[in-house]
Amino acid sequence: MLIHHFDFLITLLILLSFNLTCNTASPLNKITSSSAFFIFGDSSVDPGNNNYINTIQKIGANYEPYGQNGFFQEPTGRFSDGRVVVDYIAEYANLPIIPPFLLPSAEFTHGANFASGGAGILSETNRGVVIDLKTQLKNFEEVQKTLRENLGDEKTNELISEAVYFFSIGSNDYMGGYLGNPVMQQNYLPEEYVGMVIGNLTNAIQVLYEKGGRKFGFISLPPLGCLPALRALNTKDNEDGCFQDACALGLAHNNALSAVLTSLEHIFKGFKYCNSNFYNWLNNIIQNPSLFGMFTISLDLLYLRVVNYTSAVLTYALYIHTVTTLIRRF
Ligand SMILES: *[C@@H]1O[C@H](CO)[C@@H](O)[C@H](O)[C@H]1NC(C)=O
Ligand SMILES: *[C@@H]1O[C@H](CO)[C@@H](O)[C@H](O)[C@H]1NC(C)=O
Repeated sequence: MLIHHFDFLITLLILLSFNLTCNTASPLNKITSSSAFFIFGDSSVDPGNNNYINTIQKIGANYEPYGQNGFFQEPTGRFSDGRVVVDYIAEYANLPIIPPFLLPSAEFTHGANFASGGAGILSETNRGVVIDLKTQLKNFEEVQKTLRENLGDEKTNELISEAVYFFSIGSNDYMGGYLGNPVMQQNYLPEEYVGMVIGNLTNAIQVLYEKGGRKFGFISLPPLGCLPALRALNTKDNEDGCFQDACALGLAHNNALSAVLTSLEHIFKGFKYCNSNFYNWLNNIIQNPSLFGMFTISLDLLYLRVVNYTSAVLTYALYIHTVTTLIRRF
């Protein structure tokens, strides 16, 4: 499984590093990248966009205990102790930290991060308090317009086609959006709902492809039923304590997305992607923490948090995931 993730990271780095000028055995150190990184997602990758949303009810992380590990001077709005996974990916691709789209006077020549904590693929998910995926795509259009004004058409087209488009989104559609929403459950069978979520994600990919995007990265959904909020809903006496209906939704979503990506690769000329199996990776750790003895300290921490920690769990797991892939690398 770690190998799989290692491949995922490397593939992503290759996608990101158009101008590889590496002359050592360690390409990670020698990437001079001219490409850009555009991020769409939820709290797993939000770098602080929600700080700028003007609603009474807030889903935010710009206060302690977030940001406590000292990497940033103060809590930034990341739902994490420090960085989120896309910050690490940007670093290893030799890009600067990709700024939140809503940061005033931010500069987007290396990309933009549109993610919003609590956001879903469907506009109904946490409607009114998040930036949903459709709006994130509209915001991408804004950036594209600004780039055309600043760089001209030719440079912008090049940047757009070389950039990586990264998605980490969908958990909220199933947790609050479906399992926490009796009306949705009444109106849609689980498989219909998954179809609708995947249909909208497919549309988003297609929109970006039509705008010139060619390289796509995805982080699959984790075992949702093992996250603390959903463990609490589990009424069955199963050994791992995970809420199986939620895990099943996450798996159905992941399988459907894999199938869609395979066919898009056949249909869309020049379409490239990599898709991580975050589900199996995290599930392995949750079910068999002792098998991961090599990383005992970090994984004990992770396990504790999976059991007991709510909002930072995803980002923390992704952080460990990135770190372990890198340990593996060197
Ligand atoms: C996208 O989601 C909406 C609900 O937000 C749904 O009505 C629509 O059918 C979905 N589109 C696709 C292509 O599945
Ligand atoms: C979870 O949190 C509760 C309350 O803070 C604490 O009593 C319990 O020991 C924690 N469980 C784990 C596994 O950390």
